[in-house]
Amino acid sequence: MTAIRSVVLGCGSYLPQQILTNAELAARIDTSDEWIVQRTGIHERRIAAAGELTSHMAVRAAQAALTHARVDAQSIDLVVLATSTPDNTFPASAVAVQADLGITRGAAFDLQAVCSGFVYALATADALLKSGAFTRALVIGSETFSRILDWTDRGTCVLFGDGAGAVVLEAQQQPGTREDRGILTTQLRSDGRHKMKLYVDGGPSSTGTVGHLRMEGREVFRHAVAMITDVVEDAFKATGYTAADVDWFIPHQANKRIIDGSAHKLGIPPGKIVVTVDRHGNTSAASIPLALADAVADRRIKRGDLLLFEAMGGGFTWGAALARW
Ligand code: ACO
Repeated sequence: MTAIRSVVLGCGSYLPQQILTNAELAARIDTSDEWIVQRTGIHERRIAAAGELTSHMAVRAAQAALTHARVDAQSIDLVVLATSTPDNTFPASAVAVQADLGITRGAAFDLQAVCSGFVYALATADALLKSGAFTRALVIGSETFSRILDWTDRGTCVLFGDGAGAVVLEAQQQPGTREDRGILTTQLRSDGRHKMKLYVDGGPSSTGTVGHLRMEGREVFRHAVAMITDVVEDAFKATGYTAADVDWFIPHQANKRIIDGSAHKLGIPPGKIVVTVDRHGNTSAASIPLALADAVADRRIKRGDLLLFEAMGGGFTWGAALARW
């Protein structure tokens, strides 16, 4: 029986020009390149320029994805932008992206699930495409975490960076087997009992301010690998695939130790992991599409490859997706 699948037509990314190295951070706060590299695997991250907004970066990534997909912006009828750092409290930054791209039909909205935002956005767009309500979607992750960091808190400010990534998805009839191209399963989870372990201490209805990111790093770390591997196992159960079938593991890029620990527990060899955390830091909802675009650009990922995405972050939220390229 045939099935509608959300097939990835193309992907793209954008990084701000300014590179902030560990050495530069060590000149400002009590930290060292050695500590940051050993605990996180991060060497450098990008910082958005003054006046460079989340929507600006999202537009650049979306344009790259549209070019890669060889489709026109006018053909897009759905824009889902995953971000926790919108330009304004409202309207959604997604409508700024829609307008900048010259799209005047369909729907555009933001989705907020912190570091899991891209997987949540992928699942949402996939469901809307499969329902028949929309035909071609831009799914974007874009973040300016540099604007919500407390630059005096060495426990958090060394971890994050700015950037954006995007994919173009199209609803296509496929044979309806697990060999289909496109998104094969998405699995989403959250557990709000952990909401104060990683949060921003401000907001429109609480303080009336933007606030700064606060995190119990060790607590996040303690839960990360178990939550990630659980939800990935559910994605395997839903499709009948196993770790051995995965061609490329494209995890959320929070910390090299979390990535390696999850891959090891799942039985995915290091050679199949796409890693960008060393150059990008943790770009929250942007990290997966940034990593994907990297591995597509250097031709590691080939048509027909089975891709595994996963993320875990504030909330806690976590999730996984399996897709055939
Ligand atoms: N430079 C130097 N020393 C530091 C720094 C720093 N930047 N930050 C903390 N330290 C110190 C601490 O003060 C502490 O010193 P003390 O023992 O004298 O008190 C020591 O290093 C150890 O601190 P911990 O917080 O226990 O260090 P840990 O090994 O847990 O590493 C880290 C901290 C990297 C934050 C880790 O807990 C982590 O990666 N957690 C996951 C958090 C994460 O990735 N969050 C992103 C969002 S959620 C997600 O995407 C999964």
